[in-house]
Amino acid sequence: MTTRNHENLAQLVLDALQMYQSKSERGEAHVVQQKRESFLADALGLDKWIREGGLTTDNVNAFLTPYLEHSQHLHHPGFIGHQVAVPHEGAAIADMVHGVINNPMAVYEMGPTASVIERVVVNWMLEKTGWFTGAIDGFEHNANNGAGVLTHGGSLANLTAVLAARAHAAPDAWALGTPDNFAIIAPAATHYSLARAVSIAGFGQNAIRYAPVNDLEALQPEKLEQTFMEACDNGQKVFMVSANACTTATGLYDPIDEVAEFCEAHDLWLHVDGAHGGSALLSDKERHHMKGISRADSLTWDAHKMMRTSALCAAILFKDQSAMAGTFHQDASYIFYGGEDQIGFDVGPYAIECTKSALGAKLFWVLAMEGEKGMAKFVEKQYADTRAFYDFINAQPDFTCPYRPEANILCFKYDGIKDNAAQLALREKILERGNFYITTAEVGRVRYLRLSVMNPLTTLETIQKLLIEIRLCAAGLQG
Ligand SMILES: Cc1ncc(COP(=O)(O)O)c(C=O)c1O
Repeated sequence: MTTRNHENLAQLVLDALQMYQSKSERGEAHVVQQKRESFLADALGLDKWIREGGLTTDNVNAFLTPYLEHSQHLHHPGFIGHQVAVPHEGAAIADMVHGVINNPMAVYEMGPTASVIERVVVNWMLEKTGWFTGAIDGFEHNANNGAGVLTHGGSLANLTAVLAARAHAAPDAWALGTPDNFAIIAPAATHYSLARAVSIAGFGQNAIRYAPVNDLEALQPEKLEQTFMEACDNGQKVFMVSANACTTATGLYDPIDEVAEFCEAHDLWLHVDGAHGGSALLSDKERHHMKGISRADSLTWDAHKMMRTSALCAAILFKDQSAMAGTFHQDASYIFYGGEDQIGFDVGPYAIECTKSALGAKLFWVLAMEGEKGMAKFVEKQYADTRAFYDFINAQPDFTCPYRPEANILCFKYDGIKDNAAQLALREKILERGNFYITTAEVGRVRYLRLSVMNPLTTLETIQKLLIEIRLCAAGLQG
């Protein structure tokens, strides 16, 4: 195919995407349709395309139309499900540019512009955390500044944090293996990626000492001492505490400042998993949820949740740059050999990934279009809207919310449905109708319906319609 044909194909796809997005935004599509794999493979003609090729401007819609139709429609106001950003067009453009120039950057020379953008964006994030002073685009070395890298997701960021904390507490672990008596304190509501990271790093799940939590699964700092002593009595050496900002299921923040107090008293690494709620740092109004963050040692912070980038773009940030430097060791003569006079900074030695997408460019494009104030306003709007939705839902005689939301995550239940299994069945019914996409979560062993208010187009009217839909679906279940 000629370049001209490619241009036409790209234009056709762009037109289809524009139509898809505007229809979704107007709520003229199903948010989600649950179809089986065999149905979709057939509808998309996957086998034929793979065997025969031949996709052109003439037939692209035979593939694209069902592909878009059966996708999850994040731009639809009824998308109130998982914590995935409704992507800003800036992030989409960054994806497109990367898709054409493909500058993956383990080493600076493979993606100089993407590398410098990552460095400046990371400096900007560090500045919001309180771990960077100076010009974010100044590259003179300041030993007091923190450091960080962008990762393909918060899960990798959490794993990197565990490995950095291990290197800090046991510098020999890289060569000799993970000490078998090391332990981490974390609340049970910790995201599963952190628990996984503990096993990946070689500690085993017994190394997690679960911190006592309140009825809403938030960490109770006054009880950390007891957990710590129990671990010591068990012959374990606690080296790290992880706190949630915010917790995935509820969107409630652990009290970072008080946890930091405890960690400082015992010389423990404090990791804050701010994959979702770290973006509160952008807003003067919501920043208080992150009080104490500058006392932490590491922070996971996803841009593809509350900073409007498409998946993926996350960061692992360190207060102390030497902590990042000590995390990994590698011998790879084909790629890392730079000396003092090397041009640019290679991220490869500090990241799990070798080939890495131009992650920073996505966040940069959104910032370049909205500015940091615009980004802060977005966070404020989503948080404030969620509180308004809570006020409305909680005022209904047949709905209960277990807490006032702190972020844009809200749990609630329909009282006409009695047990956890029925609450799950209710969600299935809602999804079947396809007008809303919502999730569920258990809090204190009670299953709730759960909203992540990611879409700026989700309004109080959307929520009013959702409650009508829920009552209708519940009646269907009972009838
Ligand atoms: C608190 C928390 N940490 C980590 C993660 C994992 O991040 P990712 O999906 O970017 O790997 C999530 C995802 O929802 C999360 O909520």
